[in-house]
Amino acid sequence: MAAQASSGLVPGFPADFGWGVSTSSYQIEGAVDEGGRGQSIWDTYSHEPGRTARGETGDVSCDHYHHWQEDLDLMADLGVSVYRFSIAWPRVMPSGKGPLNEEGVDFYSRLVDGLLERGIMPFPTLYHWDLPQALEDEGGWVNRDTTQRFAEYAAAMFERLGDRVDHWLTHNEPWVTAFMGYIGSEKAPGVYNDWPQALRVSHHLLLSHGLAVQALRASSAASAKIGLAPNLHPTRPFSDSPEDVKAALTWDGFQNRWFLDPVFKGHYPEDMLAEYERFSFEEAVEEGDLAVISSPVDLLGVNFYHRAVVKTEPNSPYLGLTCVPTQLPLTEMGWDVTPDGLPEMLLRIKRDYGDIDIYITENGAAYPDKWDGGDIVEDPQRVEFIARHLEALSQAVAGGVHVKGYCVWSLLDNYEWEKGYDKRFGLYYVDYPTQRRIPKRSALWYRDQIAASRTGAA
Ligand code: FCB
Repeated sequence: MAAQASSGLVPGFPADFGWGVSTSSYQIEGAVDEGGRGQSIWDTYSHEPGRTARGETGDVSCDHYHHWQEDLDLMADLGVSVYRFSIAWPRVMPSGKGPLNEEGVDFYSRLVDGLLERGIMPFPTLYHWDLPQALEDEGGWVNRDTTQRFAEYAAAMFERLGDRVDHWLTHNEPWVTAFMGYIGSEKAPGVYNDWPQALRVSHHLLLSHGLAVQALRASSAASAKIGLAPNLHPTRPFSDSPEDVKAALTWDGFQNRWFLDPVFKGHYPEDMLAEYERFSFEEAVEEGDLAVISSPVDLLGVNFYHRAVVKTEPNSPYLGLTCVPTQLPLTEMGWDVTPDGLPEMLLRIKRDYGDIDIYITENGAAYPDKWDGGDIVEDPQRVEFIARHLEALSQAVAGGVHVKGYCVWSLLDNYEWEKGYDKRFGLYYVDYPTQRRIPKRSALWYRDQIAASRTGAA
């Protein structure tokens, strides 16, 4: 990367702050038929006609499976100290249970070694949505047995990587898995509007999280730190009408409290239990489940993109509610840019759930970046987006929230699920036909931010 001084760097972070980047397996690895990898529900879903933009799949994506060393070098150039990635369950356990696929384990083992050689903390997520298809064929997350399979898979990873990995995440965005997977159908397995199943899935995800936490404590890596990474959205009513005010409260229960309360308080929120009575939710819950779910965690990952402005929408399958963008300009995803929502959420977590160590495990934005064949891609909007979120984050730090790190989503442009490849979130532009990675201005800016923060110059 060319030397380039940046202006507008953000002060307010401790010298040992964990500066990082984030990715996930299905979005970057490609090589879906290599190294003994089994099929995942995303292979199935993305190949179904009409599911994804332009029919795009993660078959090749950034081909990180073959470019991982180069990608680790990009991280070293940035100077990051944390890499949050995910392990593809079907790469290490092709049918979701039974013996490990050694070639798959070796891939992650080499990745971990490569990170440590570069002074970067490996921060793996065990589940970023790529369930082995063989388990889906037995009911997937609707089937309670999947929670045991997940605990076994987690235990195997603790055993194989736990000598070098000391920070873990169980689930990425369980709300998305359960509700976009079984209500909105935008995510695999693509079920539409099945509330009893979606709620059962949400419970099984939480239960499997708790079982994995217990598996870690029982393992030889027991002193490692573990948590989960929900997507959290502070909510606001669209108007001050009583309907919208109620809508915002319900959305908060649906998206935020439904996952935080069981983990940190050991019970589901009462208002949402009442809401879900008509879907017979409580039949999914067995005695002792909430004690497992609330097994103490060491950290919370927060994926933060935007505030949710909520109103009623009778046609919405999401409890007759919808979130609407309100502030122009929006990102390429059509999302509001609401940096002040980040400290709002973090201070609220501190107030309602206590002083847990927090990593911002995802934050970033898609913009229509264009590469002109040169050495750099200009992305002023992303620089601005990240800087404003860091300023906001520094307010939470000043407010006493234990923020340990921040990971930009994402290191690279990658496969943005059902939206395909034209949503570019990377600090590095990926020219997919050649697999060339080109730094964006935001990469240079982030590198300078990290260096300045470490030396106290920011
Ligand atoms: C989050 C996902 C991540 C990525 C970003 C843009 O919901 O966890 O994989 O797609 O959104």
